[in-house]
Amino acid sequence: MKKTTLLLLLLSTLFSVFAQSPGDRKITLIPEPVSLQKDPAGKNFYLSPATRITCSNPALLGKMAEQFAERLATATGFSVKSVQASASLTGGIHLQLKDDMTIPEEGYRLLVNHKGVTITSRKPAGIFYGLQTLLQLLPAEIMSREKSSTRKNWDIPFVTIEDYPRFGWRGLMLDVSRHFFTVDQVKDYIDQMVKYKFNLLHLHLTDDQGWRIEIKSLPKLTEVGAWRVDKTGTFGRFSPPAPDEPRTYGGFYTQEDIRELVRYAGERFVNILPEIDVPGHSLAAIAAYPELSCTPGSYAVNSGEQFMIWPGGGQHFYGTLDNTICPALEASYVFLDKVFTEVAALFPFEYIHMGGDETARNFWEKSEQIGQLMKEKGLKNLDEVQSYFVKRVEKIINSKGKKMIGWDEILDGGLAPNAAVMSWRGMKGGIEAARQGHEVVMSPTDFAYIDYMQGDAIIEPPVYATLRLKKAYQFEPVPEGVEARLVKGGQANLWTEQVYNMRHAQYMTWPRAFAIAEVLWSAKPAGAGRNWNDFVTRTEAHFLRLDAAAVKYAPSIYDPSISATVKDSVLTVTLNTEIEGLRIHYSFDNSFPDAWYPVYQSPLKVPKDASWLKCISYRDGKPLGRMISMPVSELKKRAGIK
Ligand code: ACM
Repeated sequence: MKKTTLLLLLLSTLFSVFAQSPGDRKITLIPEPVSLQKDPAGKNFYLSPATRITCSNPALLGKMAEQFAERLATATGFSVKSVQASASLTGGIHLQLKDDMTIPEEGYRLLVNHKGVTITSRKPAGIFYGLQTLLQLLPAEIMSREKSSTRKNWDIPFVTIEDYPRFGWRGLMLDVSRHFFTVDQVKDYIDQMVKYKFNLLHLHLTDDQGWRIEIKSLPKLTEVGAWRVDKTGTFGRFSPPAPDEPRTYGGFYTQEDIRELVRYAGERFVNILPEIDVPGHSLAAIAAYPELSCTPGSYAVNSGEQFMIWPGGGQHFYGTLDNTICPALEASYVFLDKVFTEVAALFPFEYIHMGGDETARNFWEKSEQIGQLMKEKGLKNLDEVQSYFVKRVEKIINSKGKKMIGWDEILDGGLAPNAAVMSWRGMKGGIEAARQGHEVVMSPTDFAYIDYMQGDAIIEPPVYATLRLKKAYQFEPVPEGVEARLVKGGQANLWTEQVYNMRHAQYMTWPRAFAIAEVLWSAKPAGAGRNWNDFVTRTEAHFLRLDAAAVKYAPSIYDPSISATVKDSVLTVTLNTEIEGLRIHYSFDNSFPDAWYPVYQSPLKVPKDASWLKCISYRDGKPLGRMISMPVSELKKRAGIK
């Protein structure tokens, strides 16, 4: 061993032995590990310029060790490196693979003591998750994308952690069709999700608003299908584009891009699930190849103008144009065979998602070809037509060596024999599929739709529904009476009609994805020991980590939600916060409330001539929430006053 190395080791040993806890920085891990023992004396290990990362098996762990060393070096400015040594060095971080069958799949053991850090697992994925936990044991500034200017001490509390996931499918879905995200943006999204031990990225690659994956045998899919008119505002309410309006918004992933994304994700133990959404949601494909429609005509990629109608906002809907691939045409199956041949070759993951949701069938009702198909195949209704289509698609997907998964509508008319179901219209689709012995992934709107607003509609960017963090944290993927082994796990879905850029995608994702990450990883089912207040404390600690990483998140947990009623003929307002310990200051006199304004204690009578309620949350004298301005006319509406 070189003299300088020896000196560094000696220094680092001294540093770690003599360094004592500077205080009691709380351990705030998300997701919560299965078991964690703290050192009763509250001692810490400290990173130093001499810290080295070693691993038992450089062929399998070397790259991961290097990447981790880089992260530490970036934020600390220390010369942390990964070095070739198969045993641990005192004062270092050692990663070791061990054929220990007591460590569950993806699990790890993490030990921090005066000798340094050891992470043990059976497989590299477990080591990777151990490293994510280790990052979370370090101060928030470790997430910084450059050298931290404020932090000098890089303490890691002495702990013993044993950890493994509850579910093997821990997903986030990103809709790259409605708005397009570049390869670099998707990589950054992957970087953020793995910090919370997600292992699956579902890419919604096709929809009415854009086809986002190159299919070499069908070039028009991206030449035509990837482009729409550039519009800004409230998606779904745009004016119809003129026929000659330039189609400048869009983009797609080349096959080279996809291979790069798959490689990048794979290095981080993330599978990418590709979704090709058929037979509905297919306007981009139909615009490219109109011969795939049962309804002859010329079609254009949708640019955000409304064409699906939900009368009364309920479950039923129809299209003002036919956005479906026609199940009655053999050409449709030839087309899909080409698409899935190329998709299957690009994505190593065992599943391909075929969508299957929200197929508007009002044009099928009038289609001669559909009528003919029903007669020929003895199909009694349009559910059975859709089921006929889904079963043929499954055969195609299976013939490429892949399993098929689809949204829960694929149950309608009879489920394909081997299909897995992604339950989104609540849990009932998942429950039914499991009853029939099929595998399911739970992503119900009520708990896992992170495109919904996360606070009061008066302040959030408008979407048609709300899912607050507290509700997401109540998600339980295994409903009573369902065989747990059939529930592969769950995911949160980020649809991007109203998400124009990656900063807003981050805002919509965090902190709700903290809740979903914990639900999917941690051992505790809903109601059995999950502690909301504790989760909130940890969430707030992770806000600091996102700040350090320059990742946006929603501060909506601090904002009151506002309801109004008429009580004794007086308009009365109730303010609620989903977390405890906030003081809401308010005004009715049009001025901005601050910490010297009245504090909300019980429902407020709105002064007869008031025009505005303004309110904001404070804690310890500091504003935390955003200033909410609510017109009294909106309060009246909420109270049901015409
Ligand atoms: C869906 O939200 N349409 C699956």
